[in-house]
Amino acid sequence: MTMLTATALSVVAQEVPQVANVLGRQNVSLNGKWNYIIDVQEEGYYDYRMNPTRWGFFRNAKPQRPEELIEYDFDKAATMNIPGDWCTQDERLFFYEGTVWFKKSFNHKKQEGRRTLLYFGAVNYDCRVWVNTREVGHHIGGFTPFNYDVTDQLKDGENVVIVKVDNKRHAEDVPTQIFDWWNYGGITRDVLLVEVPEVYIENYKLQLEKADAKARQRDISVAVQLNKPGERQLKVSIPELKLSQALTTDANGFASATIKVPAKNLMLWSPESPVRYRVELSLAAAAPALGDFVADSIGFRTVETRGKQILLNGKPVFLKGISIHEEKPNGGGRANSTADAHTLLSWAKELGCNFVRLAHYPHNEYAVREAERMGIMMWSEIPCYWTIAWTNPGTYANAQRQLTDMIRRDQNRANIIIWSIANETPHSKERDQFLGRLAQYARSLDNTRLISMAMEVTGASNYKNRLHDNMHEFVDVVSFNQYIGWYRDVNDAPKMEWEIPYDKPVIVSEFGGGAKYGYHGAKNQRWTEEFQENLYIENTAMLDKIDGLCGTTPWILKDFRSPRRVLDGIQDYYNRKGLFSDKGEKKKAFYVLKKWYEGK
Ligand code: GCU
Repeated sequence: MTMLTATALSVVAQEVPQVANVLGRQNVSLNGKWNYIIDVQEEGYYDYRMNPTRWGFFRNAKPQRPEELIEYDFDKAATMNIPGDWCTQDERLFFYEGTVWFKKSFNHKKQEGRRTLLYFGAVNYDCRVWVNTREVGHHIGGFTPFNYDVTDQLKDGENVVIVKVDNKRHAEDVPTQIFDWWNYGGITRDVLLVEVPEVYIENYKLQLEKADAKARQRDISVAVQLNKPGERQLKVSIPELKLSQALTTDANGFASATIKVPAKNLMLWSPESPVRYRVELSLAAAAPALGDFVADSIGFRTVETRGKQILLNGKPVFLKGISIHEEKPNGGGRANSTADAHTLLSWAKELGCNFVRLAHYPHNEYAVREAERMGIMMWSEIPCYWTIAWTNPGTYANAQRQLTDMIRRDQNRANIIIWSIANETPHSKERDQFLGRLAQYARSLDNTRLISMAMEVTGASNYKNRLHDNMHEFVDVVSFNQYIGWYRDVNDAPKMEWEIPYDKPVIVSEFGGGAKYGYHGAKNQRWTEEFQENLYIENTAMLDKIDGLCGTTPWILKDFRSPRRVLDGIQDYYNRKGLFSDKGEKKKAFYVLKKWYEGK
């Protein structure tokens, strides 16, 4: 087989920092039907010598002469819904881990003085993007947004975007090779064309400063970063509070200020009253069309710790939580809409929750905003899950990038109160260095929220459980997972004692056990609803004895898909620890937790 050999494929580096609040900006959705080609051996990217080929599928080529050989045709290929994972849209791809190519044609009209950003809410996992056959970027990480400035690649009329997605797992990845959730591949969140002026508001942050409960005035700190350096005039307004603040950017295009507001006028965000204010940011320019404007709905609240308490707006709060995976409420598949989120969060509300743990990766923005609207506090986490490649600099850079993008996207969401940097990681000097650095980095990006991670019980004997973890130094909240009654010590929870030698609030970030909905029997019969119910009765009684317990997020709201759960007739590739079945049916343990939370 003769093929023209590869020459250096030039990537026109177009990635720009994640633009803030794309949902609050003028954008054109590219969601909908996309053609796709399953490419197991990456025939569309490599030649038979495994060198990147210049004749790849990104050319979207069509035979120009009768005898010309082109062995792919997107327009004859099947289509699937984007955003959406491929596992639940094509049964051939249910277990598939590999490369799939996507193609979308769209019309575009260029506008004078405007830039066009191609934005992806998330693509799992390794993604390469071409616009009109020019490669504009390469992104890894399945749960955070990224965008490219494609102004110079676009043309008036029909344009084509092609995306190569590969969800194969590797040891150096984040998450690493094994994890207890479904590796949904694909373009799992929105694809948008975002229109911005040449100079635009790239990033902004508004935060209520902590103050004494009797303070008559409150300070809202404002920070704005433009995409270009240089002095320019900005205005930040909160119309409802009749507040407006002029700012001038410095040589780096950065501006900050403090907006002062009479305390009596400001309603603070809390689960009981999830008040959000319309905030308007405008950038002046020579001509109105060249200026920038973005509006947002922002709640103002403070969160901090005091000894073993967590304080929301200065008052102690108990986090009545539940863990959630980002799966559609009925039947699996990646969730990616306000409607999906509303259903899942309403189930959590039915449980009596004021808090949810987003496991184990940043969930979609609709879910975070819907929870903010519904008054549900959140824990958001990056997938440093189990045994990450601690000494691999590329792995650290990847983890830090995901942390940056998670914080950057949701830093204005009042309901996010905890950033989590890891889950169930093995103790070692290398791990401590890796996570210690991440924790400090998170704090450097955002010192207005609490930092935590899900630790593990480090010693248990004679019914005494100890939690000793060097990472306690780096976190504000000491959180840990424990599975007494399921993975160990069945029926011993009532006898258990706890030693957690840190003067910090404690969250039990996971506990629970499996049950197949509708399977009934003795309470010592595994997989029955009665077994799970009893486990919850015993565990909640045990938790009440933990000194400094400020909250819990039992594992888990709903049965979710996992390739690690293979017990036929019971699991069938579902982790069955949900309090709801995968079809939204309540199990008996649901009522135990609901009752316990009524007492909190
Ligand atoms: C772990 C882990 C979860 C997992 C759960 C389980 O603690 O953090 O991701 O699903 O246990 O075993 O069900």
